[in-house]
Amino acid sequence: MTAPFWVAGKPVAGGGTATVHHSYDGGVAGTHHVPSAADVEAAVRAADSARRETAALPAHVRAAALDHVSRAITERADELAALITAESAKPIRWARAEVGRAASTFRWAAEEARRFSGELQRLDTDQGGTGRLALVRRVPRGPVLGITPFNFPLNLVAHKVAPALAVGAPIVLKPAPATPLTALALGDILAETALPAGSWSILPVGNDVAAGLVADPRLPVVSFTGSVPVGWRIRDAVPRKHVALELGGNAAVVVCPDWTDLDLAAERIATFAMYQAGQSCISVQRVYAHADVFDELSERVLAKVAALGTGDPRAPGTDVGPLIDTAAAERVTAWVDEAVAAGARRFAGGRRSGATVEPTVLAQVPEDVAVMADEVFGPVVCVNPVASVAEAFERVNASRFGLQAGVFTRDLPTAFEAAATLDVGGVVVGDVPSFRADQMPYGGVKDSGVGREGPAAAMADLTEERVTVLTGLPL
Ligand code: SIN
Repeated sequence: MTAPFWVAGKPVAGGGTATVHHSYDGGVAGTHHVPSAADVEAAVRAADSARRETAALPAHVRAAALDHVSRAITERADELAALITAESAKPIRWARAEVGRAASTFRWAAEEARRFSGELQRLDTDQGGTGRLALVRRVPRGPVLGITPFNFPLNLVAHKVAPALAVGAPIVLKPAPATPLTALALGDILAETALPAGSWSILPVGNDVAAGLVADPRLPVVSFTGSVPVGWRIRDAVPRKHVALELGGNAAVVVCPDWTDLDLAAERIATFAMYQAGQSCISVQRVYAHADVFDELSERVLAKVAALGTGDPRAPGTDVGPLIDTAAAERVTAWVDEAVAAGARRFAGGRRSGATVEPTVLAQVPEDVAVMADEVFGPVVCVNPVASVAEAFERVNASRFGLQAGVFTRDLPTAFEAAATLDVGGVVVGDVPSFRADQMPYGGVKDSGVGREGPAAAMADLTEERVTVLTGLPL
């Protein structure tokens, strides 16, 4: 069946259709209807018209809808995971993990919707405020345009949709053109809720349509996850809008000399450098290992990488599948070749077949080559020795990105030093930077973006304070 798109909570089948292929063998993942300009206009108009009704929804209605979505995702987990794998070529084991996370994201949004209350501020601290009290609540800034990437077709959609609905803001979602089918399937579930029709639309349109949506004054909030240049272009294009950007990174791990379980560190580094073929903003890209542990760690990382299952993403034993398309794989291998030409040692991998790049381990990689300085978004890890933890922290910070960092240490002062010193949105102590619990604030500094996701953080970001002053009170 050709999947409908969603305008104001209703399925629409009409106009043109598009076919989604996956990159493993070019097979067809599915087809969907494509919105026309009139459909896009109808979705934006509906969001604008529904803003007051959606904002006025009782918390229990919003929370019940979000809870329903969470439960339905769990009930349909196998189907959704298969769809994620079919359209993105993400290995099924990672697709299943993503579905579990999406259920958690909606569940957390339901819980946060219930406790999103505001606060009281006393105003009688000066004579003019005697008998007065301020009720400080947060109200939606307005309808949200959510733009999502291909690498988490369900959970990064959840991180746009769930907090918007939790605060009562209508959302128009534009999923990635490469992976729209999972977002459209989420529409089936949203349609089962009692949310006002105009409160959500899902438009699988091309990137050429995005500029018009970004510029539309009826969508005063833009929440974008995707590439660095596109993100900052959006912010520059609409300086008066509220823009949240969750962009890229070249996440680093520091392995300190006190860390004795090098097998665990190697296992985590290998797994999370290569998961989803490195197509995560927080996959491990740079490893700075203290000279005392560098040789042993490198050997163990190599062994762990060699043990990863590669191949068909639908097979349960596959850890590393293809990238999203052949052009992405060609770029990654070109960057690897550039690093080797600049003096990096290639310990493993580096070859390409179609959209698949072998899990690649490089060592002693110059800091200024693309695999170190830019976001590789491929199955490549660079392991470099450092003389001290201080040097490692300096090198982590030398990046133009700052999303998350991992620090393998058991030394409490070193952990606190990392948290104080590293210019990133999050420091993970005792693990890789790829750890993300969906309720925690998540986002970056520098070129990695602005604003934070995670239901509670995003709900704060999508709203602004509104004060109600009460007078004549016997306080
Ligand atoms: C991302 O790639 O930005 C998201 C990573 C995650 O949610 O684990």
